[in-house]
Amino acid sequence: MTDPASGRAAASEADRVEAAVSLRISPTPETLERVARVRTELVDRIRAAATERQSPLVRALVAGSAARATFLSDRLDVDLFLLFPPDLPRDRLREEGLALGRAVLSDPETRYAEHPYLRGRFAGFAVDAVPGYAVTDPARPLSPVDRTPFHQEYLAARETPELVAQVRLTKQFLRTLGVYGSEARTEGFSGYLVELVVLRFGSLRGVLTAARGWRIPVRVAEPGRDPPRLPPEVALILADPVDPNRNVASALSRKNLATVILAAGEYLDRPSEAWFRPRERSLLSRADALERLHARRTHVAVVVLPRPDLVDDTLYPQVRKAERAIAEEVGRSDFAVLGSSCAVDADRVLVLVEVAHPHRPAVRLQDGPPAGLDRVGHYLEKWTAPDAPVLQGPYVRADGSLAVETRRGERDLEAVLRAVLPRLSLGRDLTLPPSATAQVHPLSAMPESAGLSRGLDELLAKQLPWLPRTERSA
Ligand code: UTP
Ligand code: MN
Repeated sequence: MTDPASGRAAASEADRVEAAVSLRISPTPETLERVARVRTELVDRIRAAATERQSPLVRALVAGSAARATFLSDRLDVDLFLLFPPDLPRDRLREEGLALGRAVLSDPETRYAEHPYLRGRFAGFAVDAVPGYAVTDPARPLSPVDRTPFHQEYLAARETPELVAQVRLTKQFLRTLGVYGSEARTEGFSGYLVELVVLRFGSLRGVLTAARGWRIPVRVAEPGRDPPRLPPEVALILADPVDPNRNVASALSRKNLATVILAAGEYLDRPSEAWFRPRERSLLSRADALERLHARRTHVAVVVLPRPDLVDDTLYPQVRKAERAIAEEVGRSDFAVLGSSCAVDADRVLVLVEVAHPHRPAVRLQDGPPAGLDRVGHYLEKWTAPDAPVLQGPYVRADGSLAVETRRGERDLEAVLRAVLPRLSLGRDLTLPPSATAQVHPLSAMPESAGLSRGLDELLAKQLPWLPRTERSA
């Protein structure tokens, strides 16, 4: 913490920094004007196309950051929502929505999130045309995007130009930390969440001043209201003002929120423009990683799985689940696990595990029952048989239970992993068929790839993102 005088100096430096950053990241008045024109044009063109096709469209609107001018100047996409009657069957919704989008956008491309949408272009802008239902109660949505018009209304009624500028600053601050975006790959803050916390705390510095004292899990309650209930494993809870049962921060990971909590104090004490400039950094190459492993005297094994044909939002949770299952199994198999990571390449999924030693001990300690239990008879019979692979025992341990030490067959991490992988639950579309032999290699046998570099960087170059990079490989 700081004394009052240096606190005041930091605050006036933050004023200067934030003013300069605001100028750099704000869209120009011309851009804002073009966006405003495109909003009305898009809606008019969609309405005309709907009339022509006799489409059951109820309403078209541009929502999201383009409707509120809360986008960053180098990151603009226009979110166009096409709302249909609640009784329209889902396949018709999809069909009608995509058809209207295709009628108006150029270079249309169908994409899937939780829900299909169309990405295309209009008057030089990237546009996402998203079909949804025109519901009257945002607490009872029929599709994941049906709350959007209510979000738009809620924020538009409360945001002033000052708050809009603070939203942009906050987005850029979070982006620099790598925690902006609620897609499963990022597990960060959604644009809507940023707008709500800025409304709640008044400014970037208001948010950071609150955040520096947060302890996870964090509940942000509306003044005068009870905080929402706490599901397990959640990092931050903030109820959606248009649907109080929904947590707006459900995608945010504990790791990312903790990063923001730490960064908040650092920035408030030592503000500078660097906090708003994403760093260009080259990832660790396979050669760098091998050098680090040599210095660390450790070993890395890489599990290679075929990449299923899934959208990122479905794939990443499964890949993280596979990483957890594999690292836990390696630990249970008597290896000392130092860390693990995962990465996705064009055609494969990689899980990396770092262990203290590539071989586990040749001796396996197997616990037995305590003296006096019925099971003891069976245990002794099994382990005193002439062909039992016993190295030592059976014997009694200090706590009164039996134990035996046996010889292990497989000692290499790679061989152990190959044997156990078909039994692990890796995530729905990643689980290997029982007959399959998994590909597991020591790092030294892996060809270089972009995914491998990302995985190695996550495994062997861990450091708070704002610290100066050091060569700590020795
Ligand atoms: P975006 O993810 O595009 O956010 O969703 P944004 O506010 O425009 O921020 P940036 O600047 O592009 O990053 C657009 C709107 O869609 C709604 C939210 O209301 C959001 O403001 N939405 C999005 C949902 O309701 N549900 C979703 O699953 C996704
Ligand atoms: Mn958007």
